[in-house]
Amino acid sequence: MKILFAAAEAAPYIKIGGLGDVAYALPKELAAKGEEVAVVLPLYKSIKEKYVTEMEFLFDFSVPLAWRQVYAGVFRQKCGEVTYYFIDNEYYFFRDSVYGHYDDGERYAYFSKAVLEMLQHIDFMPDVIHANDWQCALIPLFLKHFYRQIPAYGSLKTMFTIHNIEYQGQAPFSFAGEVLGISESQLADVAYDGCLNFMFSAICLADKVTTVSQSYAEELKTPYYGKEMSSVLSGVSYKFCGITNGIDADLFNPQKDVHLFHKYSIKAMGGKKISKRKLREQLGLEQDEEAPIVAMISRLVGHKGLDLVQYVCHEMMERRMQLVVLGTGDAEYENLFRGLAAQYPGRVSANICFNSELASKIYAGADLFLMPSKSEPCGLSQMIAMRYGTIPIVRETGGLKDTVWPINPETGEGRGFTFKSYNAHDMLDAVDRALYFYYEKKPELKKVIRNNMETDFSWQNAAMQYLAIYQSM
Ligand code: GLC
Repeated sequence: MKILFAAAEAAPYIKIGGLGDVAYALPKELAAKGEEVAVVLPLYKSIKEKYVTEMEFLFDFSVPLAWRQVYAGVFRQKCGEVTYYFIDNEYYFFRDSVYGHYDDGERYAYFSKAVLEMLQHIDFMPDVIHANDWQCALIPLFLKHFYRQIPAYGSLKTMFTIHNIEYQGQAPFSFAGEVLGISESQLADVAYDGCLNFMFSAICLADKVTTVSQSYAEELKTPYYGKEMSSVLSGVSYKFCGITNGIDADLFNPQKDVHLFHKYSIKAMGGKKISKRKLREQLGLEQDEEAPIVAMISRLVGHKGLDLVQYVCHEMMERRMQLVVLGTGDAEYENLFRGLAAQYPGRVSANICFNSELASKIYAGADLFLMPSKSEPCGLSQMIAMRYGTIPIVRETGGLKDTVWPINPETGEGRGFTFKSYNAHDMLDAVDRALYFYYEKKPELKKVIRNNMETDFSWQNAAMQYLAIYQSM
């Protein structure tokens, strides 16, 4: 099969969040299974020079956007078995940051249309376009209204994957005429709840809709998680399902990770101890042999459950433990952690940045990994943590529920510590259970760490499920 994966980010070229990991690893796994896979991305300013200089320029063409004809260049590069196409338009993509511009709606409407337009010019007509998140959500709409009548597009199918319902892509009605170029009579395909909603259109028009874990798929059909989109998703149950993401087993491997102070494996765990000591050295934490390090690596935004941490952080710090945080986000939470680091010197380390090398060092050096998300479509960090022998503490939601099974402290069965209700003291209780386990149940602790490190979190299984759906279309 020929599959074109459309996304706003994909590692190694450009990665802002979990989508970047998925858009790298899933195409790679599908290609390894013998499918013909290509990925298409915007050519951003922040893509490293070393990649750009090796790209091959193919041609340029015009993308019709309502009454305008907009330039698009196409570059190509092969990375392993996967072909990458890059859409070049400096006005839209040669900017210092990837997201967060006033015209993001227009930038990604342009990108989505350019992806379809490009197919007339390259020698790769896919069987399926797999469009991801709101940035690529207009692809089914454009296909329906502008390309379907062209014979080459006649049998093209679309899959749409929701990585996070928090960001849906909304625009005022005027956008329909000014950018999308669709008429009043076609508006019903994209108008929802008083505005245009890109995700709504993809959910209605794509042949299949997926999200990134089974639990999140169920949650999205309820108003608490799916909000205004829950009824729409319930209405398309027949074509909507969840497939739990994997992680790249080569990339996230403590035996191979070049960023670690010391590599390690289940058979030789000494490197994890060294990693902890050196991490403390680097972050200026006390070398307290007894105390576990509790880590958080996260975007510092509301739905990651940070208000729970804010509520009980001082109580938490009454325990014998250290806290290491890595991430950026809302000023409120950035300042919370900066404040804690100032108040508990040697015990709290706040790293308000994103740095994948430091992330690896933290996954390896920590003992426990806290992820109290209010909602979590899948979450990759908990799986990475388990692979690095760091025990997760999570709220039972979305992908966290599907990947972290509660530990029975007596038998050492299970994968992590969990709590159900979104309540700060329930979270603290889970932290306490984890600390007790860490201090008092050494043999069981070892067993959990070993089992977690041995668990297959690879893409193998998920890729088979995607393939089955592509084929069913
Ligand atoms: C989004 C979600 C995260 C998921 C990732 C990849 O970033 O918030 O839970 O793991 O997408 O699908």
